[in-house]
Amino acid sequence: MFDTDQTSLPQYRNQAPIYSRFISRRNNIIRLTLVGLLLGTTIWITLIKPLVESESSIILSDSANAEKQNTEPTQPMWQIDIKEVIDGRFSLFKKEQFTEVALNKNGMIPVTAVLLGWKRMESLQIVVNYISKYPFIKEILIWNNNNKMRIYAKDFILNNSEVTLNVFNSEKNLHDLSKYTTCSMAKYDYCYFQDYNWLNLYMDSLYTNFLNNPSLIHSNTMPINYLEHKRWMFANSDKNLHTGFTRLGCGSFASRAKVQRFLGQLGSISLMKDRLKFADVYFSLWTNQYPYQLSNPLITLDKKDGWKAGVNQWNVDQWNLFYNNILDATQKLYTALAVKSGSELFAPEEEQPYYNDRDTRAPCLNDNCLFLTNIDPFPHPSRVYYANNITHVHDQEAKFNELDFPENSFWENHAYHHAVDLNERTCWNSFKIPKIGDYFGLQFVEPIFSEKITIVSTKDIRNFDASFNILVSLDGNEWLKCTGIHSDSIGYTFTRITLKFNCPDIAKTKQLFNYIRVEASRNFTEPLEICSLMLDGLSV
Ligand SMILES: *[C@@H]1O[C@H](CO)[C@@H](O)[C@H](O)[C@H]1NC(C)=O
Ligand SMILES: *[C@@H]1O[C@H](CO)[C@@H](O)[C@H](O)[C@H]1NC(C)=O
Ligand SMILES: *[C@@H]1O[C@H](CO)[C@@H](O)[C@H](O)[C@H]1NC(C)=O
Repeated sequence: MFDTDQTSLPQYRNQAPIYSRFISRRNNIIRLTLVGLLLGTTIWITLIKPLVESESSIILSDSANAEKQNTEPTQPMWQIDIKEVIDGRFSLFKKEQFTEVALNKNGMIPVTAVLLGWKRMESLQIVVNYISKYPFIKEILIWNNNNKMRIYAKDFILNNSEVTLNVFNSEKNLHDLSKYTTCSMAKYDYCYFQDYNWLNLYMDSLYTNFLNNPSLIHSNTMPINYLEHKRWMFANSDKNLHTGFTRLGCGSFASRAKVQRFLGQLGSISLMKDRLKFADVYFSLWTNQYPYQLSNPLITLDKKDGWKAGVNQWNVDQWNLFYNNILDATQKLYTALAVKSGSELFAPEEEQPYYNDRDTRAPCLNDNCLFLTNIDPFPHPSRVYYANNITHVHDQEAKFNELDFPENSFWENHAYHHAVDLNERTCWNSFKIPKIGDYFGLQFVEPIFSEKITIVSTKDIRNFDASFNILVSLDGNEWLKCTGIHSDSIGYTFTRITLKFNCPDIAKTKQLFNYIRVEASRNFTEPLEICSLMLDGLSV
């Protein structure tokens, strides 16, 4: 349905804000020359060879998609000034946490950012300056696929003197494959990927969730894509198949080990050059893990191109190619897993946390926290049994569509992030009816202290003081129950309640916690609707 139903994406099609003022000031920085440098190692040569330039190329990110498209915004939802947003953002993490000495003690993980250049130097400059504000980004590698444009480190302004920047100008367009070849050269063990035409406003929160489980792919996806990706998950427990597709271009973390394994897979299972353009499809599916996806609205830096960056502008042929590669990647994975030697190439073990144990759902819009809930309105991927006998991904989608889950419009209006989007008029709806033990809550990027939480709903929630337990945690594993829950009469209405509570001093010295969970102490009779949450000093 996504190939024809373009109207399912209108709000997200173009959130393009006005940033031209910012751009014009930067124009004089750009110095392009045609002198290039070509990098050659064995792996490059083997990988580059089959890739011949092709005009009709399509790829998942639009880093090599050069056709003009003039999609004017139909319903710009987020009219914001990008420059203001960028200036207002800074990391809660400190440079001092990422020195070599500090890293040996504090469990933080330094990361290499991998960016691809194709066109729109200005956007790339914005992205580089922006991500360099985040001290966990210790290295930035730019791979420029455009041989008509040469770019250099001096073209960029970094916000942080601790970050190193290297630029590679490629003679050939390696498309998305260059993400992986570039990440394989990274100094650090983990890579951060982002296309130049997106602005990831959730750097700290995505990183915070990545720190919990660094081995998995962590990605930002727009709510509608989050739903869409549920249909592109493939499970077969007899064959140890448990995988899913995710886009990577809107901000994602992946381990260099997975990337290098992927390059090894490409070395053993040779793909035709047209398939290599879909490297992102093969990479995420061939990890044989469900990616850890967060669902949140995203900002594009491309006013003109807008949602061309996504795939909803694809024509039927392009969609068929995409589907064809999803199926091809899955079939090859299934076949390899079915024979014993496949386990060398592909990971048969499902990594923890298992799908049902993942409860991080969306970054808070202010990037200071993450929304958590165990209530998942979507079915577990294993509910669709993949027997490797379908002829089109539509067959897989059709089986998924028979299951019970929210429709597109419901999800657009009630996806997780609406609980933490600084807007009391938009609400997350749990879709499922909460039972005893179901919960929602927050993980904070920085620990906080609070003795009360205000919950805003659209429903009568006056009985919430008797409906929930409140628990806090430092690490997300050990939870301590708070006591004395009672509602505060100040600001009390049918749809707004402030719960006061006393929590045990888990930090021993200061009453700080990193996680809070509001857990149902009774079975509910209808879905929950949460529009906003407020704690001392933090309002989402
Ligand atoms: C670095 O980021 C801070 C915080 O947003 C901003 O105030 C400052 O101007 C930036 N500096 C540069 C060189 O971009
Ligand atoms: C595919 O395999 C499943 C399970 O073995 C079976 O139930 C189904 O009928 C098969 N479908 C086709 C189209 O062969
Ligand atoms: C709550 O619902 C669960 C699952 O439907 C049920 O097993 C349990 O008995 C219910 N508990 C109460 C106290 O009603």
